[in-house]
Amino acid sequence: MNATPKRVEHQLTDKGYVPVYTTAVVEQPWADYSATDHEVWATLFERQQRVLVGRASDEFLACQRAMQMTPDRIPKFDELNQVLRKATGWELIGVEGLLPELDFFDHLANRRFPVTWWIRKPEQLDYLAEPDLFHDLFGHVPLLMNPVFADYMAAYGRGGVKAHGIGQDALVNLTRLYWYTVEFGLIKQADGLRIYGSGIVSSKGESIHCLESDAPNRIGFDLERVMRTRYRIDSYQKTYFVIDSYEQLMEATTPDFTPIYAKLAKQDSIPAGNVLDTDTVFNRGTGEGWLADGDV
Ligand code: PHE
Ligand code: FE
Repeated sequence: MNATPKRVEHQLTDKGYVPVYTTAVVEQPWADYSATDHEVWATLFERQQRVLVGRASDEFLACQRAMQMTPDRIPKFDELNQVLRKATGWELIGVEGLLPELDFFDHLANRRFPVTWWIRKPEQLDYLAEPDLFHDLFGHVPLLMNPVFADYMAAYGRGGVKAHGIGQDALVNLTRLYWYTVEFGLIKQADGLRIYGSGIVSSKGESIHCLESDAPNRIGFDLERVMRTRYRIDSYQKTYFVIDSYEQLMEATTPDFTPIYAKLAKQDSIPAGNVLDTDTVFNRGTGEGWLADGDV
């Protein structure tokens, strides 16, 4: 190959780095992946397989096995789709990068999960400012095999379309929910806290940090609390929220959010690292290494 991927650029504004979006839906150009691309996949896949033992949730690991992704080569979306469609009716579509919000919501509402087709370079194994194939495929796709989580993601898409019609504040609240569950969520198992958030499972450093470091808060999930909480896009999270089960997540998010958005509009947002008296605290973070500014 190398087809030069059309990357999503980021521009630095007073709101931090803001991606410039593209709408393109593309066929996965599988034959164009280079040997290096496949090696990056293999390296990251094998590294995370080791890190996630005893750290990722049982359900994530079971779904991952059921999906039959393997390290030897970058999976073909078409092959994964046969498994996924049968399990929960979801399918993967290839994209260039981040989509405009409404397009993204519409895809999710229709059980299409957008996966960035290109993979990071060997010198970016540990950190990338935007989603690539490894994050999207390894991180997000396994739990779409779980019927409850699959329903949650589709409901989120429908909720997104609705929030988009309500306004910017509603979208901010909804995005925080996505961030603290789909991307950075923890779950309480009988044998301890585990990871299910995609942003964590696709990162070696954060997989260890979120569970084993004393620095971050680990707090019980509460819908309105989460929707008020700002977050970090340029560092490990200061706070992780812990669900009891995927059913709890589904039930908490089933009610109509319209009155909740109206209520939250009258309340202040909560800084990413704060702990409230009303929180269920699993760990009160020491705050070690936290930067003072930069919550979004
Ligand atoms: N119940 C939410 C609403 O009315 C939709 C939603 C479901 C949002 C699941 C997120 C997750 O807007
Ligand atoms: Fe993601």
